[in-house]
Amino acid sequence: MFDYWNQRFAQEGMIWGSDPSPTALHAKDLFRQHQSKTVLVPGAGYGRNTKVFSREFETYGIEVTPAALEIAAEWDPLSTFTLGSALDHRLDIQMDAIYCYDLLHLFLKEDRRRLVVNCLKQLRPGGVIFFTSFSDEDPNNGSGKLMEPGTYEYKEGKFAHFFSDRELREYFAGTEILETGSYPETLKSSEGKSHSYILRYIVARTMS
Ligand SMILES: C[S@@+](CC[C@H](N)C(=O)[O-])C[C@H]1O[C@@H](n2cnc3c(N)ncnc32)[C@H](O)[C@@H]1O
Repeated sequence: MFDYWNQRFAQEGMIWGSDPSPTALHAKDLFRQHQSKTVLVPGAGYGRNTKVFSREFETYGIEVTPAALEIAAEWDPLSTFTLGSALDHRLDIQMDAIYCYDLLHLFLKEDRRRLVVNCLKQLRPGGVIFFTSFSDEDPNNGSGKLMEPGTYEYKEGKFAHFFSDRELREYFAGTEILETGSYPETLKSSEGKSHSYILRYIVARTMS
């Protein structure tokens, strides 16, 4: 997975353009309501979404590919980025909020669980998470080679897990689930090409 992403960022630069996901704007409103001061973005890429938060919150990104972080340092200098894996890397700060965009579905089950556990450990008691993932309502669900239940190699060398609402909630059992829902997402490349899909999101709060 590392080679795939590093090569894409090195060759294509800002793969999904400069506009943030509408889910980041939604998360920003929620984090404001919860009086968050610090926000972590695991799988931050080149900072497309961190930039939504960094003007207002102390914002940290963890990203595994150096090629993405080179762009992020220029695109969003207000955020603090760390090179590392969100599966096991932790910062010294307890975060008030975590926004994790389309990272969870990139792993097989064991690592999906690891990601959630690691993120929850990074959150202060009473902190808020906003996670997005591919939805089982997306037309790509069920296409390609079955790797694990709900997980398909839908393009050569690239697999993803497609979450139902129930399964997404199960990953955050033990937290207070505040909201779930779906978004039609359209990604636009810097060359003007666009790609649409359906994602799910979940908002939850850890017990204080
Ligand atoms: C689908 S992209 C989303 C990027 C970013 N959130 C955005 O929308 O601009 C997933 C990102 O997660 C990164 N990634 C993959 N595995 C990771 C890991 N174990 N730890 C941290 N980042 C990872 C990839 O390099 C890529 O930047």
